[in-house]
Amino acid sequence: MAVSDMKIYPRTGDKETVYLKSVITDPGISIGDFTMYNDFVRDPRDFQRNNVLYHYPVNHDRLIIGKFCSIACGAKFLFNSANHTLTSLSTYPFPIFYEDWGLDAKDVAEAWDNKGDIVIGNDVWIGYEAVIMAGVTIGDGAVIGTRAVVTKDVPPYTIVGGVPAKTIGRRFSSETISALLELKWWDWPAERIARNIEAIKSGEAGRLR
Ligand SMILES: CC(C)(COP(=O)(O)OP(=O)(O)OC[C@H]1O[C@@H](n2cnc3c(N)ncnc32)[C@H](O)[C@@H]1OP(=O)(O)O)[C@@H](O)C(=O)NCCC(=O)NCCS
Repeated sequence: MAVSDMKIYPRTGDKETVYLKSVITDPGISIGDFTMYNDFVRDPRDFQRNNVLYHYPVNHDRLIIGKFCSIACGAKFLFNSANHTLTSLSTYPFPIFYEDWGLDAKDVAEAWDNKGDIVIGNDVWIGYEAVIMAGVTIGDGAVIGTRAVVTKDVPPYTIVGGVPAKTIGRRFSSETISALLELKWWDWPAERIARNIEAIKSGEAGRLR
């Protein structure tokens, strides 16, 4: 059986769904195997331009997404350069307009507050038009509801929604979550995952082999 995450389009005849790893060229973005993005409005191959916003190389912040994530149309990752600094007396970003104000180009990053990287675990489902803010870490197996604005870290296997996103529920019992975090099925060879698809679909962690 051929299981490949290296192609762009996982589904024959579907140009709206891509394996993200195959279309990302920005060294500040790292995507795990099989993580997919669907976009029925814009070209999904343009994810890094249309969905990863205010992510400037000068800031060296990173978007890290694990394996087997499902990212819905219009989900956005809003990076640090969007955060006009709140320590200044003004939110006007003078350092960005350094030419007009006689400032040093190398200090341009002083225009914004840095909250850090965005880190998404494995098997995370990010709903339609959700927004993930800079500095947020989302745990394995989490679910981000439609149009959520995620401002704080989300624990593994937790469902969040709303603005700002709050916990709606947990996907499984603590025992099952611990077992899944221990098993890390997403790191198995594709052939082993393929043998376990029915067990995964069953919702019973005890059936994983
Ligand atoms: C988050 C989600 C998975 C929750 O599904 P669920 O567990 O079946 O939840 P329910 O519909 O039973 O709702 C549970 C509670 O969460 C609330 N809720 C559900 N989705 C929400 C959302 N996106 N934002 C805010 N609150 C939400 C419900 O109003 C309900 O609140 P209550 O307990 O006060 O009555 C689902 O609503 C969702 O947003 N899915 C994403 C769909 C999507 O964007 N798909 C894109 C294609 S892949």
